[in-house]
Amino acid sequence: MDAEADGEKLTELELLHQCIFMLNAGHETSTNMISHGIHEFLRNPSEITKLQVDAGLADSAAEEVLRYQAPIQINNRRSTADTKIAGMPLPAGTVVHLMLGAGNRDPAQFPEPDLFDIERRPNRHLSFGLGVHICAGNTLARIEARIAFQELFRRFPTLRLEAPAKLAGRIRFREVEELRVSL
Ligand code: HEM
Repeated sequence: MDAEADGEKLTELELLHQCIFMLNAGHETSTNMISHGIHEFLRNPSEITKLQVDAGLADSAAEEVLRYQAPIQINNRRSTADTKIAGMPLPAGTVVHLMLGAGNRDPAQFPEPDLFDIERRPNRHLSFGLGVHICAGNTLARIEARIAFQELFRRFPTLRLEAPAKLAGRIRFREVEELRVSL
């Protein structure tokens, strides 16, 4: 609220927008990460066993959930100067859609990209973006993921999928609409 740059402060409206942004950025993404993660674990029960046997896999499991089902599938940038990407000219002002989900399944970077493997290393996924605008909440989200999956499968070791999950048809935000499980 006190931040100031070149003598300018945020207006009340801008501050309110920041609050709404923080809520969306931090809440919906984490919710979808956890629900997608539960779904992928339940579809791959051998990965649950691995995590139950070796709690040390909690970190790489969180990264694999984030890679496999990026909660934000598309990010955007606008070029500030004339440039080229992979030989394609981009005049200044071009809006670029970055397909994070596709990058996360790039076979040149991830062997067997469609395999959900909680031991995958290295796992340099793009789910938090990159560069100066990398997700400000990435450390918090990673902690949430580690705790959520480890505790869930420790406390409910017989958790099972009862029906295929219903996924929402949205393009940018990936969302599990319904997940029927039994304990
Ligand atoms: C699984 C959870 C999350 C995912 C997948 C996620 C993903 C992202 C992505 C893709 C970006 C854009 C980065 C870029 O443009 O390069 C971003 C930005 C941001 N995220 Fe997250 N996010 C998550 C959780 C959170 C949480 C928990 C918070 C805050 C408590 C948060 C706050 C922000 C903020 C403030 C930005 C803007 C950073 C900037 O523009 O400098 N995010 N996030």
